[in-house]
Amino acid sequence: MKTIIYIGVILFLSCSKSTTSKMRSVPKDPLIENLISNMTLDEKLGQMTLYTTDWESTGPTIRGGYENDIKSGRCGALFNSHTVDFTTRLQKIAVEESRLKIPLLFGYDVIHGYKTMFPIPLGEAASWDLEAIEKSAYIMSKEAAASGLHWTYAPMVDITREPRWGRVMEGAGEDTYLGSRIAEARVKGIQGTGFDKADRLVACVKHFAAYGAPIGGRDYNSVEISERVFREVYLPPYKAAVDAGALTVMTSFNDYNGIPASGNKYLLTDILRNEWGFNGFVVSDYTSINEMVNHGVVKDETDAGILAITAGMDMDMQGAIFQDKIKTGLNDGRININQIDNSVRSILRIKKLLGLFENPFKFSDKTREANSILTKEHLEASRDVARKSIVLLKNNGILPIKKSVKKVLIAGPLADDKNNLIGAWSGSGEARHCVSLLEGIKQNLKATDIRIEYIKGCEIEGSDKSNFESVLAKVKDADMVILAIGENKDMSGEAAARSMIRIPGVQEELLKEIRSSGKPIVTIVMNGRPLVLNDVHNGSDAVLEAWWLGSQAGNAIADVLFGDYNPSAKLPISFPRHEGQIPIFYNYKSTGRPFNPDSKWNTKYLDMPNAPLYNFGYGLSYTSFDYSAPTADKTSFKNEDSVNISVNVKNTGNYDGEEVIQLYIRDVVSSVTRPVKELKAFRKVMIKKGENKVIKFELSKKDFSFYNDKMEWVTEPGEFHILVGGSSDTANIIKIKLTK
Ligand code: BGC
Repeated sequence: MKTIIYIGVILFLSCSKSTTSKMRSVPKDPLIENLISNMTLDEKLGQMTLYTTDWESTGPTIRGGYENDIKSGRCGALFNSHTVDFTTRLQKIAVEESRLKIPLLFGYDVIHGYKTMFPIPLGEAASWDLEAIEKSAYIMSKEAAASGLHWTYAPMVDITREPRWGRVMEGAGEDTYLGSRIAEARVKGIQGTGFDKADRLVACVKHFAAYGAPIGGRDYNSVEISERVFREVYLPPYKAAVDAGALTVMTSFNDYNGIPASGNKYLLTDILRNEWGFNGFVVSDYTSINEMVNHGVVKDETDAGILAITAGMDMDMQGAIFQDKIKTGLNDGRININQIDNSVRSILRIKKLLGLFENPFKFSDKTREANSILTKEHLEASRDVARKSIVLLKNNGILPIKKSVKKVLIAGPLADDKNNLIGAWSGSGEARHCVSLLEGIKQNLKATDIRIEYIKGCEIEGSDKSNFESVLAKVKDADMVILAIGENKDMSGEAAARSMIRIPGVQEELLKEIRSSGKPIVTIVMNGRPLVLNDVHNGSDAVLEAWWLGSQAGNAIADVLFGDYNPSAKLPISFPRHEGQIPIFYNYKSTGRPFNPDSKWNTKYLDMPNAPLYNFGYGLSYTSFDYSAPTADKTSFKNEDSVNISVNVKNTGNYDGEEVIQLYIRDVVSSVTRPVKELKAFRKVMIKKGENKVIKFELSKKDFSFYNDKMEWVTEPGEFHILVGGSSDTANIIKIKLTK
């Protein structure tokens, strides 16, 4: 037993990229040092304490009386507190009634919009449009900053291979490369180059780390992944966000390698600070420090707080542990005052960067608040990214809908809905500002003779089919049907795991009934996660994946339906055929017995193909693109060279259109097993009808590197396959060789 433990420890240590923890270096500033030298211990612990107001909350409010805490310096930051009036009132208490007059930091979950709502992050990721994503992050920050806020708990950059997990809607999907680029874009959009104009927020990268890999897809569950998968798949987007300048990081609820993230020194100190040089502050997730008692790694909350501080935690969200419990650890020497001072220094530094010491009310300007929210420009940006996020999953030619159609029946529980369309995690977003699908279609067809009829047909959930007959009666005199079905927004997001990822209720039965009429059907699916869509696919003439698209959802979908926008989105995550295939992802590894449909003895199911219904990177357009075979400027290259890959892409259809050109690599022989393909680059390009564009990619050493068996980051000579196409299942290939 002892030997096994010993080998385990050695293995773990050898996998760790840095095991010696240096003293963390937080830049020193005279104003802050002066404050620290004047602070009592309670005031220091107060700066390390974050409470929710009792206005809104994503969990139980375990502590009231925050106004007294502000006055006595026992609370330095608040969340769920927004609007200029509200934040001004609280800030006044801090800077007028507390002893040291240290301004408060106001945080909030501004996830995909403040008032102007953008598509849910998973949907927006389908746009593969980094500029549009950065812009939406900027707009949401601008609106929130005009409403008194300083800090958003975004971006969430958790990679996931788990469609059952409700929080899949908040991230960028399954791929590490796409997720990393989007993480950077979101951080840039949120923080910009600084806070001079008070139109940006401080970003908080979450949830560090590997929150997207809960066993069985159940939220908050343990994570069991190897150090290799952790470093190759899950870690890079957090690093990309930190490299892009993210000033704060939130821990996750799960454990990693047996230690809950909020007490995990390997994560918070060895990786984050020592390997990556992060010098912002780390905040716990909601009571996640307290929850280490339930994890069973500490006997009580005092020990939980001490474990958190020792690991490198700076701020306690809602747990009241730093404020109330950790003094014992200082008295008995398990933690020391330098650790506390470092945390306080890191937190005050962010307040200083925001400019709050010069003007605590910098973000509280009534005029700006009145003029910055839901502006025409913001709504246009929302419509733009919303239509770029709609994935055309099937089209037998019915789309775009010809203006010669005479009568369209619009049906389904999501057709006249606003509340769900703003999506889960919509915070202060309001359904009344959302354009429903019905409204969007009416608006689009205003100047035409096409007549519209609407009937709901059924609810999202439940078994009531009593309206099916009325639907069928209306179908009779329509030329075609547009059916909007899917999930309601509470089926995704936090604590919203589903074991069956089907369209709920009798919605698919409604589709079948309509199908029996023989009338053409366009089905629009609205949801927060990949769903099993076999019946929708087989029962519809066209299928649009429309996620929850935000304030301009209806207009954006109508733009696509009637050809004012040619769909260009590609799936950022695989859609399985059945829950039994989960986890399912495109960058799996080759096995000793790779899939072979003609023999039994290999990696496969007896009752189902291995492939998903829709694979990562898939999405159709109203036009068609022809790809030439990729070419390389050299077929053999050395480690330090770069290789230029070119491909000709021709728009061979009848519409101008944007295409997402995706480049994947495969390392054919390497000392450890590698994925059958990995995305390494992409470009989203407009190609006009009949036009041919040459698309170039430059690949360098980093694109061919991986962790070897000693967890060293290396490249190895040998053959690589480069695949370039419009989806991850492309077979459009060139072989190149890396020499010594
Ligand atoms: C969530 C975080 C969120 C926090 C504050 C937690 O329950 O996991 O993502 O930022 O609440 O609302």
